Amino acid sequence: MFNSLFYRRLYEWYETQHRVLPWRETDDAYAIWLSEIILQQTRVAQGMEYYMRFIARWPNIETLAAADEAEVLREWQGLGYYSRARNLHKAAQLVVANGWTPFPTRFEDIRSLPGIGDYTAGAIASFAYNAPYPAMDGNVYRVVARLLDIDEAFDTTAGKKLFHQHIETILDRENARLFNSAIMEFGALQCTPVLGDNCQQCPLQEFCLGYAHHTAELLPIRKPRPKVRDRWFTYHIYLCGDKTLLQRREAKDIWYHLYEFPCTEEQTEDKYPFTHVLSHQKLHARFLVHRVQKMPELPGTFVIHWDELNDYALSRLTLRALDTLRTALPN
Ligand code: ADE
Repeated sequence: MFNSLFYRRLYEWYETQHRVLPWRETDDAYAIWLSEIILQQTRVAQGMEYYMRFIARWPNIETLAAADEAEVLREWQGLGYYSRARNLHKAAQLVVANGWTPFPTRFEDIRSLPGIGDYTAGAIASFAYNAPYPAMDGNVYRVVARLLDIDEAFDTTAGKKLFHQHIETILDRENARLFNSAIMEFGALQCTPVLGDNCQQCPLQEFCLGYAHHTAELLPIRKPRPKVRDRWFTYHIYLCGDKTLLQRREAKDIWYHLYEFPCTEEQTEDKYPFTHVLSHQKLHARFLVHRVQKMPELPGTFVIHWDELNDYALSRLTLRALDTLRTALPN
């Protein structure tokens, strides 16, 4: 089914249609790894500026390993899913400690690093070394589900196994770099979630069972989403002259090791001015500004000058609130 015409069509499409992206212009495994970690939960347009700043500031794994975690978190600020940044930093230190610089070359060593799963290990091994591993991201699951008309959920253990068996048979093992880049880009640009008239001009139409069976746009199937938990936060912005209070989040919870204003969490159904949606939680927040003569002594908090706020990694929710409230706050 996936004969040479299939690959020729896919590769011709890729050669003419692909986006030129900086991490595609290099075979530096460090740069590719960094781009893949950023792109795990971030769109290309948003990820680009972060990638450029990280590469400029830490051009190789040794410099990243030598940075402080706080600096890495600060540079990551605004991207969300901060465990990616903590794992990035931890992985850099492990690579240096193990003598794997400039970057590990064995798939098993790459896969063993924190923050790297099957997809990311396959992406690095194939993009950097042209090694014969698949790289199944969400785009590739969609393309495979449609080509083969698979109506099993892809995001379950059994589903992942099934899709991996299929991709192993489709993978062009001699050209894994080209194949993975092409099928991923094909999912991102041509075989999109909403198809419009994309199938009408699709170069793979004659190979696609989903097209033949009129099921393409219904695929892929996901397992039912877990229910989202609502939480209500009240943040207290204490202002005493040009000083304020901050604390660092330490609990095994969201935003581990990010900084925030002193915060209380309550059970309520009240309407709060800010909402912030995470993958499994919907946060409702309000920010109360207190002008005080004397700072309250709150355990776990510390005093900073307002203009030092920039030096601390803050959540996107807090950044949004600071922006909205700026007329009521110091500059
Ligand atoms: N998303 C994840 N990896 C990507 C890549 N290498 N290029 C474009 N988008 C991506």
